[in-house]
Amino acid sequence: MNSTVLVTGGAGYIGSHVCKALAANGFTPVSYDNLCSGNKDHVRWGPLEVGDIRDRARLSQVMKLYRPEAVLHFASLIRVGESVVKPAEYYDNNVFGTFCLLNAARKNGIRDMVFSSSAAVYGMPDTDMIAEGHPLRPVNPYGHTKLAMENMIRDYAAAYGLNYAILRYFNAAGADMSAEIGTAYKVDTHIIPLLMRVACGDMKEIGIFGTDYPSPDGTAIRDYVHVQDLAEAHILALRHIGKGNGRLTLNIGTSAGHSVQDVVDMARRVTKRPIPARTGPRRSGDPHQLVADAAQAGKLLGWKPLYSDLQTIVASAWRWQLRKTALDAGNEDIKYARAI
Ligand code: UFG
Repeated sequence: MNSTVLVTGGAGYIGSHVCKALAANGFTPVSYDNLCSGNKDHVRWGPLEVGDIRDRARLSQVMKLYRPEAVLHFASLIRVGESVVKPAEYYDNNVFGTFCLLNAARKNGIRDMVFSSSAAVYGMPDTDMIAEGHPLRPVNPYGHTKLAMENMIRDYAAAYGLNYAILRYFNAAGADMSAEIGTAYKVDTHIIPLLMRVACGDMKEIGIFGTDYPSPDGTAIRDYVHVQDLAEAHILALRHIGKGNGRLTLNIGTSAGHSVQDVVDMARRVTKRPIPARTGPRRSGDPHQLVADAAQAGKLLGWKPLYSDLQTIVASAWRWQLRKTALDAGNEDIKYARAI
């Protein structure tokens, strides 16, 4: 069997962790990435082909060269705030890019696709736990583009026989357990990487966005899922649809919520650093709670998170932060060894 798969966004945070898991499971991941936010040093488990998903000629050329059996599609712009001020870029990259990718896949006879979607497609939740059947009412352009991409994939599946697994991530977090790779963003707005930067003195303090939410401590609640568990879900999904069981839309989360204050406290405990925090107003567009009902992923794929307890997530992020700091200082081994 040809076990080569094309990974768009393979140099990014989630894409690179999935490439590592793919290689460990006997696949050859070919990363296709325009490097606008990914890191080429994180492409270690297969070739890197630099290219943009909107470049149909380049996509076809790479597909003809490697003849992948499936596409795992991560390449996407992902910042909610940025999507509000630059919607044109989001529709162009995310929606038009996915259109080009789907057509190239179709033209080249690739029938299986795993797609990186987001809890952002749900918008403001009606229920404490969000199941896949919850209404889809995204509240920002980022969420609108993810929903449009999902719909396009479902329409292509119905008309052209594409097999797909759409995975709706809740809060992807943490880093590779052996700290080989971690977050790859040039600019990060996510709470855990920012806390790690405060802990190592790179930033002065963390802002806590909102203390008047309807939660026990007043801060917003999220479902954090370890990126390695997330990667495993992709392997299971790929195998599942490869057996002809296409057309799967699944939440990937833990079904457990943690408040922002819980995360700050855990970061202080794990790093043993004070981590100054300043409370401030809510960030606009933030739901008060996003927790997955993730029962379907367990039932259909046999997926079970292994590293997604908050302590393991934060500890892995901290190990990566220490290694990255040492790498950036150009003295990886000595400094990293001293730091842990
Ligand atoms: N937060 C802070 N301070 C910060 C950063 C974040 O208090 O400096 C809070 C946020 O307000 C939120 C929580 O920490 O309550 C988590 O925020 P993140 O930015 O880490 O993640 P989001 O929940 O905003 O984002 C996630 C996914 C997105 C997805 C979104 C859906 O990463 O891809 O959920 O709402 F779009």
